[in-house]
Amino acid sequence: MKIDGKAWRTIWLESDGAAIGIIDQTMLPHRFATVRLASLDDAVRAIKTMQVRGAPLIGAAAAYGVWLALRVDASDENLERSYGALLAARPTAINLKWALDQMLAAVRNRPRPERVAAALRRAEEIADEDVAINQAIGRHGLKLIEEIAARKNGARVNVLTHCNAGWLATVDFGTATAPIYLAHDQGLPVHVFADETRPRNQGASLTAWELGHHGVPHTVIPDNTGGHLMQHGMVDLVIVGTDRVTAQGDVCNKIGTYLKALAAADNKVPFYVALPSPTIDFTVSDGLSEIQIEQRGAEEVAHMTGKTSDGRIETVQVVPDGSAVANYAFDVTPARLITGLITERGVLQANREALAAAFPERAKLAP
Ligand code: MRU
Repeated sequence: MKIDGKAWRTIWLESDGAAIGIIDQTMLPHRFATVRLASLDDAVRAIKTMQVRGAPLIGAAAAYGVWLALRVDASDENLERSYGALLAARPTAINLKWALDQMLAAVRNRPRPERVAAALRRAEEIADEDVAINQAIGRHGLKLIEEIAARKNGARVNVLTHCNAGWLATVDFGTATAPIYLAHDQGLPVHVFADETRPRNQGASLTAWELGHHGVPHTVIPDNTGGHLMQHGMVDLVIVGTDRVTAQGDVCNKIGTYLKALAAADNKVPFYVALPSPTIDFTVSDGLSEIQIEQRGAEEVAHMTGKTSDGRIETVQVVPDGSAVANYAFDVTPARLITGLITERGVLQANREALAAAFPERAKLAP
């Protein structure tokens, strides 16, 4: 996507071929800064501190991280060590494990002198595949927006989204945003309600920033507003991303997604989840009991960071000294609340049969 007229991806091979470049998402929306990742430790730190985040981008960053590790030492021991260090960096997004397994398969059985080149090749492919997948998700999701636009006779189509499943969460285009960008580019009157998404505010800071740079009309809303908007007919459809989809179609996504699905079901608003196939985890079935939910530090809840009126970036405390806080980063939306899954192979029902039929090569590898 473009920033001030220049095309960017969220992750790239630096021009000297010796490191990876990323956009530092912890600085957005107030500063646009890029960071050079030159080692395994740099890649692990970038994922842990959420300089890169979003399930597909975490996967791509981990893939490049393996390459960075092998450049120093292409032994089996270092391959295993880098796999373990990267896997432990964030627990929920299954794209991380998927990408690491891809890297393992690409290099493990090769002689050491070939491993570094093979790792870079596979990491670049993973990044390119993500872009192609998101473009396909966009084409399938576009039809949903077109249908609503036709029904509304040209009145604006209001899409509500949660967190950031935009191009910043992927290598390019985004998952939930891919249909929105396509619709906008084709001249459809699409408008986005972006949930602010406490505690880290990925909706307010990242989704709003990228939609704004692409010229997509949008409104940032406090997280608790979606239900009210749906009760008053102000949301035509919900599209969210996801960090992991189970074999039976349960969806794990940013905390608060479940409440939006409940409100959508109560108000008969279609609730779609956009996902690339590497986000499907055929090894788990019941999302509620089988997915370990990441708990993050208290400071994300207790503090907020923003720009002061004189342009300084400051962090302030918003809870009393000594209050306990809880920071569950994700929740699980049961398949029964989901209207459809927008994948690169079409819009599917959220159930075991539809997922296995669309992705038989992945389903058959499940235990
Ligand atoms: O904690 P984050 O910012 O990595 O969480 C991201 C989300 O929940 C996204 O909505 C999800 O990863 C889908 S990304 C296309």
